[in-house]
Order: sequence, then C-alpha cells, then structure tokens
Amino acid sequence: MNHDPIALNEALASFDALWSPRIVTRVNDYDVRVAKVEGEHLWHAHDDTDEFFLVLEGELFISLREPTGERTVHLPRGSVFTVPRGTEHKPHAPKGAAILMFEPTGTPTVGDRHDEVPEHVDATTGHALDM
Ligand code: NI
Repeated sequence: MNHDPIALNEALASFDALWSPRIVTRVNDYDVRVAKVEGEHLWHAHDDTDEFFLVLEGELFISLREPTGERTVHLPRGSVFTVPRGTEHKPHAPKGAAILMFEPTGTPTVGDRHDEVPEHVDATTGHALDM
C-alpha cells in the first residue's frame, strides 16, 4: 500500500474502466475505493456489511428494496449515503459520476447475492491503483 498522499482527481484520471473500483487507501480492515460509473449497476446485497458512498463528481442514484417497498435515493455531488447491510440495492448514474466507497477489504462489488452480472460491470473486490 502506498503511504504517500493521493490526489483523488489524479487517481480518477489514472483509469477509464467503469464500475471497476480502485483501492486508494486502507483504514484498518476497510478499503477506501474510488470508481467511475455510468449507466446501471445491478441489484445486489451485502449480507454482512454496510456500504458507504460519497459522490465526488456528477450525481448518483441508488435504488433500494426495503421492507416498506422500493425507493430511489438521489445523491448529488458531495452527498454521502450508507446502504445498510442486507439491503438489496442498485446504483445508477445516467449521466455518469465519480464515487468513493468505504467498505471492508474483500467486499465484492456485486455483493453476496446478485442478479446476473452484465458485461459492463466488473465483479471484483477492487483493484490496486496503478499510478
Ligand atoms: Ni453494493
């Protein structure tokens, strides 16, 4: 792990792949990941962990299937939101976004339960930053 400061704009400029998070640093046993996203991710759930989102650029929507029904939260740039563990969710960003996520190291992007993974989505536990 790199122990120099990392400029997030430079980290984001170092890759183009969509829905393919890069690990920028670790905090105890958590990853701080950044991703570029556009279009739809897929419905999935993380059974054992909450998932934190911060929108760095653009805007993100996250659809949620909650006990009371389905709803979609809108996260403009600068917003934070935590998806509770076990909650099925589907991020989407029709106009594109850059996001930061905070979650335990090893957490798969597609969760523990998920719909079929579309070709444009990278099923990963995050990639090392290459810069
Ligand atoms: Ni998730």
